[in-house]
Amino acid sequence: MSIITNCTRMWLTRSVKPFLFQREYDEALPYGDCRDLGLYVHIPFCRTLCGFCPYCKEVYDRERCDRYLDALIREIHQVGGPERKRVTSLYFGGGTPALAAERLGEVIAALEDHFIITQGIGVELSPDDVTVPVLRTLREAGVTKVSIGVQSFQEKYQTMLGRRGADRRAMAEALARVPFETVSMDFIFALPGQTFQDLRVDLETAFLTGANHVAIYPFIDFSFTAGGISPMGRGEKRTLLDRITRWCLEQGYVRTSIWTFASQAGAGYSSMTRDNFLGFGCSAATLLGDQFKINTFSVEEYCGRMDRGTLPTALTLRFTPRQRMVYYLFWTAYSTRVDAAAFEEFFGVSLKKMYGLELALAKGLGLVTERSGVYEMTLKGAFYYHYYENFYTLAYIDKMWGLLRREAFPEKMVL
Ligand SMILES: C[S@@+](CC[C@H](N)C(=O)[O-])C[C@H]1O[C@@H](n2cnc3c(N)ncnc32)[C@H](O)[C@@H]1O
Ligand code: SF4
Repeated sequence: MSIITNCTRMWLTRSVKPFLFQREYDEALPYGDCRDLGLYVHIPFCRTLCGFCPYCKEVYDRERCDRYLDALIREIHQVGGPERKRVTSLYFGGGTPALAAERLGEVIAALEDHFIITQGIGVELSPDDVTVPVLRTLREAGVTKVSIGVQSFQEKYQTMLGRRGADRRAMAEALARVPFETVSMDFIFALPGQTFQDLRVDLETAFLTGANHVAIYPFIDFSFTAGGISPMGRGEKRTLLDRITRWCLEQGYVRTSIWTFASQAGAGYSSMTRDNFLGFGCSAATLLGDQFKINTFSVEEYCGRMDRGTLPTALTLRFTPRQRMVYYLFWTAYSTRVDAAAFEEFFGVSLKKMYGLELALAKGLGLVTERSGVYEMTLKGAFYYHYYENFYTLAYIDKMWGLLRREAFPEKMVL
């Protein structure tokens, strides 16, 4: 597996140089020309911990969560800088950010001291958080989008994932009483035995329950999660992905990214495809200019660093220009299209000049089509992106998160 990702990295970056992450960082971030900057805030607390979930989180404790939020506000003021900057969206992820619902307004106000948020605020919710009081608190704090981690409406998959069933009627009622611009619901697919009918019923139920956007994430078996669920084989997964994609398109849903579909114009929920982003809190990543940084995964060490007024960065990677381009293309392809003009505007060099050969090859293999310099992924291309993404996740994210779960501030990491 790492042979595939290493060879691809060397080919696309035209260099044998690996991604080298080190225990170093700049106290003042290189804001410079940071167009399309998005904000992300991580809240690492959950009521109970799900065995399959790789994210940075621990069991909720009120006092510990309050201490964490105080540290978070300190980090925001330290990083934010004196000038108010325009940013796109703000997303709260976790964990279960709704456990801190009462104080999210305070966190948003701290961010608004430094940033002008132009495209709304999103919060990840667990089905248990979808109640009128929680939704009202979020709306009053300025939240415009919610993403609910349903995973499956069906009992057999809820049991397989060790989750409690979502109370569909209660969710529908609460969402009808407190509406949001985007109501997205997350589902996990490619679970053992899952069929097209299972998935279709889940998506139909989501839209009937008040969603106007859905995300269908392929199940990934991380090396450090509980295990016990075997991922679906390649052929079966491809058929399932192709059928559910075709079905969504037949219903008139718009594909907003490789795994997401919207039933209404303007609905969208994506914290992943920004050119630049600033992350706050444990495990949050930042990408600014040529720097990629990731914060410590330890709540204790995070709070300790902020008490001392030092940033909680665990590792920093300084991209070479080619590495930065590969990273840009990988995440832009997540939206299923790459615009050559946007690439040229961002990097000051033509996409054809840098990756003409690869694009011609992708066209020849039927992975993309091109119209006026915009490359659109075909169904076949989407499957292979999807398939490769699984290797990427296991080769990069699994290793990085695995290490950061064991060590608060590792000396270095080579990928
Ligand atoms: C950070 S989780 C937060 C969701 C929320 N706390 C909840 O549990 O309802 C975001 C999403 O990641 C997806 N996810 C978590 N573990 C996954 C895995 N092992 N493979 C694929 N998707 C996963 C789930 O769909 C989940 O809703
Ligand atoms: S899936 Fe959601 S509730 Fe479960 S552990 Fe992960 S973040 Fe927490």
